[in-house]
Amino acid sequence: MSVRDEFDAWAADGRDKGMEDRHWHTAKHALARMPVEEGDTVVDLGTGSGYALRALYDTKGIGHGFGLDGSPEMIRNAREYTDTEDIEFLVGDFDDLPFADDSVDHVWTMEAFYYAPDPHHTLEEVARILKPGGTFYCAVNYYEENVHSHHWQDNISIEMTRWSHEEYRDAFRDAGLYVAEQDSIADMDIEIPPADEFPTDSWETREDMVDRYRTFGTLLTVGVAP
Ligand SMILES: C[S@@+](CC[C@H](N)C(=O)[O-])C[C@H]1O[C@@H](n2cnc3c(N)ncnc32)[C@H](O)[C@@H]1O
Repeated sequence: MSVRDEFDAWAADGRDKGMEDRHWHTAKHALARMPVEEGDTVVDLGTGSGYALRALYDTKGIGHGFGLDGSPEMIRNAREYTDTEDIEFLVGDFDDLPFADDSVDHVWTMEAFYYAPDPHHTLEEVARILKPGGTFYCAVNYYEENVHSHHWQDNISIEMTRWSHEEYRDAFRDAGLYVAEQDSIADMDIEIPPADEFPTDSWETREDMVDRYRTFGTLLTVGVAP
């Protein structure tokens, strides 16, 4: 199944908003760390419902936001949820970013980068479009050390790249980005039931659930363009 078919179905049945709700638990902390200044241009790769750009617009006064997504339905919904023309939504692919060289102040992506058909090329594209000193904030929950995410690939036909912390750092550097920061952001918002309520539909033990959300959470890797 293509990215378009898969994620159009997600957008049509409300999973765009479901992801927004869940991802916000950790995305809000990563977004707050971005060194975005008033008037900056920010690109969101795999924007989904577009919530990240709306948050940066409301809290940091970005001048322009561009949300790119391979799913036309996601883009249609994101436009509907957004009431400013300063944020635009575009159908496009991570393989070929429709922005000029050195034209973007910051790039953000949450739970989307690992769907890139060629993640090394996408990183080169990010490095190409960023202005010198621009940052790439790349947040993922699916990664090697997070063993609780490994089975996610079984539920989706699009190939997912599962890198470790080190592989992210190496790939960023290979693409010409400096690695400024790498961190795990704990999800402290998800409610974890008391031990006697386990197993649940999703979790065999409370320890596993604590591990997944509080220990592993979201892996954030921050690259800076030279
Ligand atoms: C799991 S969702 C995350 C959405 C949003 N960032 C969030 O935090 O809720 C991944 C998004 O990436 C998009 N996507 C996946 N592969 C893509 C590609 N190759 N090019 C463009 N968008 C892609 C999907 O359409 C989907 O909207």
